[in-house]
Amino acid sequence: AITGLPPTPPMGWNSWNTFGCDITEELIRRQADALVESGLRDAGYRYVVVDDCWGADHRAADGSLQADPQRFPSGMAALGRYLHARGLAFGLYSGASAQTCTQYQGTYPGSTGSRGHETQDAATFADWQVDYIKYDWCSSDSDHDDQVAAFTAMRDALRATGRPIVYSINPNSGVSGSVPGTEFDWGGVATMTRATNDITPAWSTDAGPSGYQGIIDIVDAIAPLGARVAPGSFLDPDMMVVGIGDGLTAAMDRTQMSMWAMMAAPLIAGNDLTQMSAQTLATLTSPAILALDQDERVSAGRPVDDDPEIWSRAVGDKGLVVSLTNRSDYPRTMSVSLASLGLVGDERVVGVDAWTGNEYRAARGELSMPVGVADTVVLEIR
Ligand code: DGJ
Repeated sequence: AITGLPPTPPMGWNSWNTFGCDITEELIRRQADALVESGLRDAGYRYVVVDDCWGADHRAADGSLQADPQRFPSGMAALGRYLHARGLAFGLYSGASAQTCTQYQGTYPGSTGSRGHETQDAATFADWQVDYIKYDWCSSDSDHDDQVAAFTAMRDALRATGRPIVYSINPNSGVSGSVPGTEFDWGGVATMTRATNDITPAWSTDAGPSGYQGIIDIVDAIAPLGARVAPGSFLDPDMMVVGIGDGLTAAMDRTQMSMWAMMAAPLIAGNDLTQMSAQTLATLTSPAILALDQDERVSAGRPVDDDPEIWSRAVGDKGLVVSLTNRSDYPRTMSVSLASLGLVGDERVVGVDAWTGNEYRAARGELSMPVGVADTVVLEIR
């Protein structure tokens, strides 16, 4: 881990999943206030990341990036001061192109991107006291060397500022023809690297890797890649959709939290924090799940015996956590064998569910427990 940057997965909130381009400085401030008042900040959600569409469509006369004067009239340095005064950290978005991704997608006239201006823009970010840059890829050009050059240029420019800035890259922009982020290990380039396409608030989609992906689509895509995760270097399965839309049940929200924690993934909430239900808040702040995500060993979990429903993750000194997700559309009893987990001891082995505190004692070489539809049990093995 680079000095001053978090060794465990970054946690925070990002504007994109709920608000897209409909953002203003007032909206970001209200979300930041809610982050503090709800207790999410104190649970660890520190980074407030302003995603695409904060910028003007052209540079200032001196060539520097500038905020959209209508929607961020006080400027980005002022927004950074507002966040820091509340114990929060400041995240901002840019892209490795002339204009950011919404222009390419045709959904917005476009904000200025940073390609070819990396040194000047990194200096601007440091000047604005930015703590986190989300750097997008907005071109259908999928030339790998070109991508590596672009993402490395911004990494070097950020480092040269001397300010510790989390570097969150998205080489898999959802633009048709772009290279799936699963194909390359970007660990040496970024703090966190998107491996999958854009998430949508769904359990699963049929879109395949080049379209919007649901929760378990992303879990399955990330499953083989856990070895890339290390302290200070994370795989990003995209932001959370907990509490967004009506397409997800409370169980599905618990499954997303559970599996993002099993993957040792960054936890970037994306729901409207000013309209959050008690259920959503409880899911986002489960102490045992957050402790799992933030385990200092930063070792990502993986499926047990290639079963996508059952994962194990090594934690702490010699701890073990096992998750069981019920992907059936009926409640059922699920089991995991002690042998598949490398455990002996039978009745002395107990699994304690991080969500409910329920204890399950092994019998006949197995741990068994009821799991609701689309829900996940996360067992700390004792
Ligand atoms: C693509 C990214 O995957 C999204 O998270 C978001 O940043 C948009 N680009 C913004 O244009």
